[in-house]
Amino acid sequence: MRVTRAFLLRGVLPVAALAAAGALAGCRQGGGGGGGGGNEILVGHFASMTGDTSTFGTETDRGIRLAMEELNAAGGVLGKQFRVQTQDDASKVEEAVTVVTGFANNPDMVAVLGEVASSRSKAAAPVLQAAQIPMVSPSSTNPDVTKVGDYIFRVCFIDPFQGYVMAKFAREQLKMDRVAILRDQKNDYSVGLANVFNDEFKKMGGTIVADVSYKEGDSDFRSQLAQVKPQRPQALYVPGYYGEVGTIARQARELGMNVPLMGGDGWDSPQLVAGAGGPGKALEGAYFSNHYSKDDKSERVQTFVKTFRAKYGSDPSALAAMGYDAMKLLADAITRAGSPDRKALRDALATTQNFKGVTGDITIDAQRNATKPAVVLQIQGNQFVYRATVQPPDAAKSASAK
Ligand code: PHE
Repeated sequence: MRVTRAFLLRGVLPVAALAAAGALAGCRQGGGGGGGGGNEILVGHFASMTGDTSTFGTETDRGIRLAMEELNAAGGVLGKQFRVQTQDDASKVEEAVTVVTGFANNPDMVAVLGEVASSRSKAAAPVLQAAQIPMVSPSSTNPDVTKVGDYIFRVCFIDPFQGYVMAKFAREQLKMDRVAILRDQKNDYSVGLANVFNDEFKKMGGTIVADVSYKEGDSDFRSQLAQVKPQRPQALYVPGYYGEVGTIARQARELGMNVPLMGGDGWDSPQLVAGAGGPGKALEGAYFSNHYSKDDKSERVQTFVKTFRAKYGSDPSALAAMGYDAMKLLADAITRAGSPDRKALRDALATTQNFKGVTGDITIDAQRNATKPAVVLQIQGNQFVYRATVQPPDAAKSASAK
C-alpha cells in the first residue's frame, strides 16, 4: 500500500495507518533504511517554490544548493556525493503532505529538509515520523512542529523566544506602552507568535490595545485597521507573512495611521518592501525579529555572503542562511553517524553540539530545537539594517554549564 494523498487528507490522519505505512516503507528498504543509493546520498527538500510564499522556498533552496555544492566539491561525506531533490508544494499544506509522502515511499531517501512555513511542516512531519526518516526544518518556528516525534528537528529558535525578543525590544528600546496586534488566524506561526507577544508585552508592563484577525490570502484589511485606529496604538505588531504584511502597511498609512509596524521572521523576503509600495514608503523604519543579519562582521558570515553573492548575484536572506545551515548540519550529522542509516542519523542529529553555522552556533536540545540568539532588523529603503542581538533568556545559565 502506498500512502496516497487522498488517504492522508481524508479526515484526521489515522496514527495506526501511518505507523503501518512506516513499517511497510521500513520493510522495503530493510533495517534503518536510507543510503541504498550507491554512491550518492539522497536528500529531499519540500518547499514553496511557487505560490503565495514562493520566496520562502526559492531562497531556502538557494542556500541548500550552495551548501551542497561546497560539500560535494570537498569530496562529499563518507565518500558519497549529495543529491538534493527539491519538490514544490505550491505554498499549500495539502501539497506538502503529498510531496513528503512521495519522499517517504522512496527507499533511498536518507533525510528530508523543509518546510519554512510552520503549518506545512506540522502537516508533513507525521508522514516522515511514521516512515522514520529524519526531517530537519530550516526555519519553522512554531513549537508544535518538533513535538510530532523524535525524527523531527529544526535548526532555528522557536516562537516563545521570538515573541519575547520583539516584546522586549518594543518595551526597552522603543519605549512602547500601547501596541495593537494583527494576526493571521489561519496560520499556526502567526497565531502562536501573536499569543506570545501579547503575554510577554503585558508581563513587561505594556498594554495591548487591540488584537484583530485576518486570513492568509485576504487583500482588504481596512475594517480591521478601522477597528484598531481609535485605540491609538503606538505601534502595530503584525506577525504574518510578507505578502499580507506589505498590503496591511499600505492600507494603515492610507487610513492615516503613521505608527511603526513590527513583525517576525515571516517578513523576510526580497519582495517585502515592494509589496508595501517600495523603498521609503509604508514599511520605512519598521522593525522585525529574524535569524541572522548579513551585516554580521564575523568572518563566517562575510565569507558566506561573498560566495552567495558570487553565485546568485544577490544578498542571502535569512531563509537562504537557514537553508545553508540545515544542509551543512545534516552533512555533519551523517559524518558523525558514520553511515547514512536513518536511525544512526537521527541519533547523531539529536546530539549536535556547537555546530558552527552562519546563523550562529547550533546546539540541538532535548526537544530537537535549537537555542540561538535572534536579531532585530530595521527597514531602511530596500535594506534590512541590523539593530540588535537578543540572547535567549537562559543563555548565561547554559554558557556557565559548559
Ligand atoms: N518562522 C516562520 C514559520 O514558522 C517561517 C519563516 C522563517 C519565514 C524565516 C521567513 C523567514 O512559519
